[in-house]
Amino acid sequence: MRQAFRASILHCLSDPGERSLGSAYEYFEDGLLIIENGSVAEAGQAATLLHGLAEDVLLTEFPGKLIVPGFVDCHVHFPQLDIIASYGEQLLDWLQRYAYPVEARFSDPDYAREVATVFVDELLNNGTTTALVFGTVHPHSADAIFEAAQARDMRLIAGKVLMDCNCPDELKDDADSAYTDSKALIERWHGQGRLGYAITPRFALTSTEEQLAAAGKLAREYPDVWIHTHLAENANEVEQIARQFPSSRSYLDVYDQSGLLRERAVFAHCLHLDDHDRACMADKGGAAAFCPTSNLFLGSGLFDLPAMRAANVRCGLGTDVGGGTSLSLLKTASEAYKVLHLQNHALPATRALYLATLGAAEALYLDDKIGNFLPGREADFVVLDPDGSRLTARRTAAAETIEEAFFALLTLADDRHVEATFVRGKEQRPHKE
Ligand code: GUN
Ligand code: ZN
Repeated sequence: MRQAFRASILHCLSDPGERSLGSAYEYFEDGLLIIENGSVAEAGQAATLLHGLAEDVLLTEFPGKLIVPGFVDCHVHFPQLDIIASYGEQLLDWLQRYAYPVEARFSDPDYAREVATVFVDELLNNGTTTALVFGTVHPHSADAIFEAAQARDMRLIAGKVLMDCNCPDELKDDADSAYTDSKALIERWHGQGRLGYAITPRFALTSTEEQLAAAGKLAREYPDVWIHTHLAENANEVEQIARQFPSSRSYLDVYDQSGLLRERAVFAHCLHLDDHDRACMADKGGAAAFCPTSNLFLGSGLFDLPAMRAANVRCGLGTDVGGGTSLSLLKTASEAYKVLHLQNHALPATRALYLATLGAAEALYLDDKIGNFLPGREADFVVLDPDGSRLTARRTAAAETIEEAFFALLTLADDRHVEATFVRGKEQRPHKE
């Protein structure tokens, strides 16, 4: 089946960098996105492409709207949906006071299924079509999120959390069960349609060396499975890591020595790294999830995007809900701009889009499948509405370039500005009234 969508179209071909390199993105003011059997056939100027369009192609027009690739969230915790926006603590106290208690509720599979359904629909409401997702320690939390994603045909990667020390007893697994439960989940879910599995040690503080080694063994046995954890988020956490792992050169080195630094390993935060860590991460093919709303909300610190990119580390945006304060990658991009501005760095809107789409896809080693509109890519896309609020309608109408309009939109936008979300060419969220 062939479909075509007419609107303005913006997508990235590579990283536009701090200067918004014009050859790194394409913009078609009156564009056409042609989809065949759920994949992109072509994207370009409507005036050119409409000529050759066969009569039986189903044409949908979105006048005044902007189509961009579906957003990709590189780090988020679905079980923390109900503790988003919890007051007053930094990471280690926040975990004890808010995150662990809500995760303990996931011993109930019905609650896990209910939250997973709401979570996945909230992703789609915000234009997010792919995410790398933490579950809880309970294996059925992974089943719940995979079932919800599968029902919507979403490309989603998730895993059960591994944690066997320094946390409440009711949330502990052990090195053996971490290995066997994760292995069973990999066999059940990895590569099923658009789903992928991530081996998910929470962070090095809550895993014994024995458990990290078991995770590393699994990572060697399944090289195309992802690894997903936290790294160097909070100063107190980094200090405790140095005490718990005195023979490691750095926090990253703890993971590296356990066999957990390789391609398809995604590390959330990466705030307190040195040049050696960055070079090592790039060399081994690991990636960073930049989570600005979480880093500000939990008072963790400021991500150094230019240093990471200069070292050739793959980087994508993560919302990190519930430490993060929004599932919207537009809002997340806007906070990323402010985090960089505070450090005297630039984040042009085109680079922000890259971090939310193609850059994130590169971080996940999925850029041959998603992230832009090159022919053959899976047709996951978002229709953004610059008129989604009175203020954005005025502000974008006054803009003279797409850079200016898109920057204003991402600074001001929320889910009111997501007109529709398409997954493999199929709308997964109804049009607004
Ligand atoms: N580090 C270990 N666990 C967590 C978590 O749940 N959220 C965040 N932001 N950091 C963590
Ligand atoms: Zn997190």
